[in-house]
Amino acid sequence: MDYTNPSLTVLSSEVRPGALRWRSPSNIALVKYWGKHGKQLPRNPSISFTLEGAATDTTLDYAVRTQAGEGVDVQLYLDGERNEGFTVRTRQFLESLLPIYPFLKQLSLTIHTSNTFPHSAGIASSASGMSALALCLVSLEETLFAPFKDREQYWAKASYLARLGSGSACRSVYGGAAVWGTLAGLPGSSDEYAVPVRDGLHATFQDYHDDILLISRSEKSVSSRAGHGLMEGNPYATARYAQATRRTDEMLTVLRQGNVERFGELLESEALTLHALMMSSHPPYLLIRPNTLSAIERIHQFRAETRLPLYFTLDAGPNLHLLYPHAMAAEAKTFIREQLLAFCEDQRYLADRVGKGPEALEVSGAAEGGE
Ligand code: DP6
Repeated sequence: MDYTNPSLTVLSSEVRPGALRWRSPSNIALVKYWGKHGKQLPRNPSISFTLEGAATDTTLDYAVRTQAGEGVDVQLYLDGERNEGFTVRTRQFLESLLPIYPFLKQLSLTIHTSNTFPHSAGIASSASGMSALALCLVSLEETLFAPFKDREQYWAKASYLARLGSGSACRSVYGGAAVWGTLAGLPGSSDEYAVPVRDGLHATFQDYHDDILLISRSEKSVSSRAGHGLMEGNPYATARYAQATRRTDEMLTVLRQGNVERFGELLESEALTLHALMMSSHPPYLLIRPNTLSAIERIHQFRAETRLPLYFTLDAGPNLHLLYPHAMAAEAKTFIREQLLAFCEDQRYLADRVGKGPEALEVSGAAEGGE
């Protein structure tokens, strides 16, 4: 896929100022993306559930740029306050997109962004943030030029752009479940963008719960970016990539059949494998905390005692995601409250579930000015 398009420039006299707004959710990987190469291409396929509650709300204001200058003219506001760090990163990201969207240089852009989950929660916002921005950009392309001929192309391009910002973000543009990475058994799958698991996500999984235990919010000692990099020297890398390919394939079947036990086995093995890869990197590192392990032991005990299908996963950090079917929500909540909150920082957890995907929102008037 080559989206390079030098002809996407505007006639300045014809552009009216406007704004676009998207809310895009986070996602939780069931089979993990861990290791990348080239321009944000994954070493193995991955599959995720898109969440409902944890999301980023982004408004992109645009107007013709009146003063010529180098690069892209953008200002970013996080929760209403100008954020210099995010402004610099967003500018770099948008400049990297200039071969695809040369018109970005002709505009003045203001971005207002906020997350629905608390800052201090220690939840990564790159998947929701980058997918929300990518959706605003593809909507801007449609506003300034022509609508896409079909919606598939629209979502694929949004997913592609989101991937360039953060790999896992490309899976957030679809509701339900999404696969990123070429998979022999899934026609249309690609390393360059994610595809939705459209037909056949079993009813059990359509409203699956994902409650996030906030074990610790301290800064991670090794970023995801650095972690992906360390996979290049990991002695188990080749075997891992082959395993993840097989597992994504199997997970797809499991999601269609509704087998919650096999789902859980794969889910927990993926979480522990991800962290084993960190521990076997050079230099080795550890992101789980003692409370992560204590909570895992309780989860195992709970399953042994109740036979209920509540399983955990982890992303690149100490927080546990508890996944379970809606039918056992009451038991799960009691278990969390009575036995797991003690392991959480400030006794906090976020209740979430599988969601329907991003949503285009109305732009509210003058308050969005960004001055
Ligand atoms: C463990 O997508 O955050 O959550 O592409 O460098 O932005 P970058 O990495 P990122 O990595 C996510 C890793 C993961 C697994 C996953 O979401 O598949």
